[in-house]
Amino acid sequence: MPIVRIALLGDVVGKPGRDAVRHAVPVLRREHGADIVIVNGENARHGRGLHPVGLEELLAAGADAISLGDHYFDDVRITDALRDPNVPLSAPCNVEDPADARRWTVLRTEMNEPIVHLTVIGRLFMPIQHEEPFSAIDRTIEALLVEEPEALVIVEMHCEATSEKAACAYHCLWKWPDTVVCVTGTHTHIQTNDARIIEGRLAAITDLGMSGAHEGVIGFDAKASTDRIIEQRPSRLDIATGGVATTGMLVDIDTSLRRALRAKTIRIECPAVEN
Ligand SMILES: [Fe+2]
Repeated sequence: MPIVRIALLGDVVGKPGRDAVRHAVPVLRREHGADIVIVNGENARHGRGLHPVGLEELLAAGADAISLGDHYFDDVRITDALRDPNVPLSAPCNVEDPADARRWTVLRTEMNEPIVHLTVIGRLFMPIQHEEPFSAIDRTIEALLVEEPEALVIVEMHCEATSEKAACAYHCLWKWPDTVVCVTGTHTHIQTNDARIIEGRLAAITDLGMSGAHEGVIGFDAKASTDRIIEQRPSRLDIATGGVATTGMLVDIDTSLRRALRAKTIRIECPAVEN
């Protein structure tokens, strides 16, 4: 049975998050049998956006693909990387396109089977309303199947609302039953305890969580974050430093049956981080 094991990791928050990924990826491969590792890097630059240094570090850590989210273009210095077909980095499929970015990443199994990862930004409780995400997913999958007709697709729904993420899983299950094998959620930085297989074929989780400092407020300094919320004012947020760990999900996909077999959450503590 041709099984590929994929590790999906949530948003990387700042340097502690990048350090956590550097620690976690070898552990995922060596101790958990991960063949492919996919990471959301949209908060890798001090919590906002992805800078070239962050991109380089995540790739050097062993990430096979890097996705983005609502902070996809906070650092314009990644424009060249977003356009470079040799860099496994993609922008969300439903955003305005200032960088002429690629919208999906093609990965290969050992048997050369194409696994394609794409991200879409949701709308519920999100400050900026992008294109309606479900039709954007459909349009993007139609386009990528022209290039990769045998693709098995992983969809990452980047948004606040649990309901929107759950609905996304069912939309993909019904619309793309033999193509989409996994739907993940990102953006909240809090891992949910609902990794599951829906109707015997689609792996899903509401949120993968984050790589970063868990002793804080979604990766940021607890005091500054709390003051900001109480006082309702924008302020500089420093990155938290304690309790650094990576969270995400491991998924086994049977590439001949074209379905997910198993899904489970994972958390890897990062023992020592210099800040
Ligand atoms: Fe986000």
